Amino acid sequence: MSCTEIPNAVRKVELFYDDLAPTYDHEQFQTAVSLSKRKECELFSARFPELFAGAGRVLEVGAGTGIFTIPIARHCREVTAVDISRNMLGVLERKAAAEGITNIRTILCDVEKSGIEGTFSVICAFSSLEYMSDLPRLVRKLVGRLDPGGVLYFITARRSFLRFFIQMGNAVRQKIWLKAYGSREMRKMLRSAGCDHIEINTHLFTVLNYGGMLLEVAARRAMPEEPAKEGRERRR
Ligand SMILES: C[S@@+](CC[C@H](N)C(=O)[O-])C[C@H]1O[C@@H](n2cnc3c(N)ncnc32)[C@H](O)[C@@H]1O
Repeated sequence: MSCTEIPNAVRKVELFYDDLAPTYDHEQFQTAVSLSKRKECELFSARFPELFAGAGRVLEVGAGTGIFTIPIARHCREVTAVDISRNMLGVLERKAAAEGITNIRTILCDVEKSGIEGTFSVICAFSSLEYMSDLPRLVRKLVGRLDPGGVLYFITARRSFLRFFIQMGNAVRQKIWLKAYGSREMRKMLRSAGCDHIEINTHLFTVLNYGGMLLEVAARRAMPEEPAKEGRERRR
């Protein structure tokens, strides 16, 4: 992956996470935000056997301190962990080294601006796609990096009444307006990026089937159409 110059628009994100890195894991599990992180961990664990156990090359976008990267790395061939924050990746690298994990490749860059090299059997993201300025474009780019039949799996913010208050809180704290998406627009985005078998679920504070604050998405890159077998369709 070639790392290009980081534009100003994402500099705030980089600085925010560079500052937060030393206390990020504590915040994620020991404060009020742990409700959301614990739900993500629960969803991840449920998907783990199907998606990550025994996987080949995995790309994680916005890997942060490696809360998900490390368990994935223990059970797949190699993880490429991309993040814009040097300090977040520093924490990830120290945690991996402490556990003797050697199959994580960290790449410091803005995933929206950088070229991604190679292909992956799974591409995943946890609480990071809400930071992207042009998600439809990024999704097309990521799907293009999946092996045919490979899976894009992510958990991100779902647009909802409750989510709006979280977005406001975030704007005050991080000075960043996080994006949130509805299921329908997400499905459309994935379809036009070349996915089939699209599964979208909503979680966290779901009220009477009105969906929750999180979107959990699993979508497969469509397989190339099989060439029609010679003579098979011929009718007399
Ligand atoms: C809320 S944290 C999530 C970290 C990790 N995925 C987790 O669930 O603990 C969001 C992460 O996305 C990263 N990020 C945001 N925008 C990015 C971009 N354009 N390119 C790469 N990483 C980005 C941030 O630096 C941060 O580490």
